[in-house]
Amino acid sequence: MSKPYIHGHHASVLRSHSWRTVENSCPHLLPYLNNPSLKILDVGCGPGTITVDLASRVPQGSVFAIDPSPAGFEIARKYAEEKGVTNVRFEIGDIFNWKELEGVEEGGFDIVHAHQVLQHLQDPLGALKEMKKLTKPGGIVAIRDVDYSAMTWYPDIEGMRPWLDLYIDVAKTLKCDPNIGRRLHAIAMEAGFLRSDIDASTGTWTFSTPEELAHWCGVWAERTVQSNFKKSTIESGLATEADLQNIVTTWREFEKKEEGWFAVINGQIICHVE
Ligand SMILES: C[S@@+](CC[C@H](N)C(=O)[O-])C[C@H]1O[C@@H](n2cnc3c(N)ncnc32)[C@H](O)[C@@H]1O
Repeated sequence: MSKPYIHGHHASVLRSHSWRTVENSCPHLLPYLNNPSLKILDVGCGPGTITVDLASRVPQGSVFAIDPSPAGFEIARKYAEEKGVTNVRFEIGDIFNWKELEGVEEGGFDIVHAHQVLQHLQDPLGALKEMKKLTKPGGIVAIRDVDYSAMTWYPDIEGMRPWLDLYIDVAKTLKCDPNIGRRLHAIAMEAGFLRSDIDASTGTWTFSTPEELAHWCGVWAERTVQSNFKKSTIESGLATEADLQNIVTTWREFEKKEEGWFAVINGQIICHVE
């Protein structure tokens, strides 16, 4: 049986993902969005704000977005409507079972994209192999994932390091790699891409203004006690309810720091399909 997605799809999780745009989350993809007719597959689209943004940049093309959970689709469809974007389609779908999806076929897409998805899979290599199959010769597979161990912050308040250690341990019990961002290129090589066909880079998120801190800290404070993370943590015996409450307090304290600064580093790859 597959393990549950660490965050689940609680409102706090969807809110966090809804802040994302192509500009703040896919800078590595921007140089490739130079043709308005591109056909894009967005794997693990969640609430779809990146998806809709992608679709708005290829007005004569289209974006097919899949996710095994439809929990984010309402936000996604509403967002598309608000933006007047009609060349996007959201379907329940799993990258490992894409053959079940009408309109998804081998070599069918110019760009196959996944943002913050491989870190949640037990078989990221298998997923990348499927994404490669779905890309046209001359097209690209574009992946971006975080590296939790590389997160850094100021000031170093008590409680933040235990939060990070706990998150990493919980992800590992789910057999996922929370530090996958640093080895995306290595997985792509295993999936059959030549090293010379892979561009590897990094992209960061910084949360420091009061608004940015309110968003980032608020999301983590809520997620810690309301999402699947809580269930996985308690069930695995890695922390108690009291430990989780301490983590919430830590995030709420950090949020109030005028000098607060939190940086997230993401690994990014563009793989060119021959
Ligand atoms: C962290 S969210 C990222 C959402 C979106 N890409 C974004 O960045 O806003 C990861 C998403 O991957 C989805 N996912 C998990 N397993 C998947 C699979 N096998 N195939 C496709 N998507 C999957 C989850 O349901 C979840 O919505």
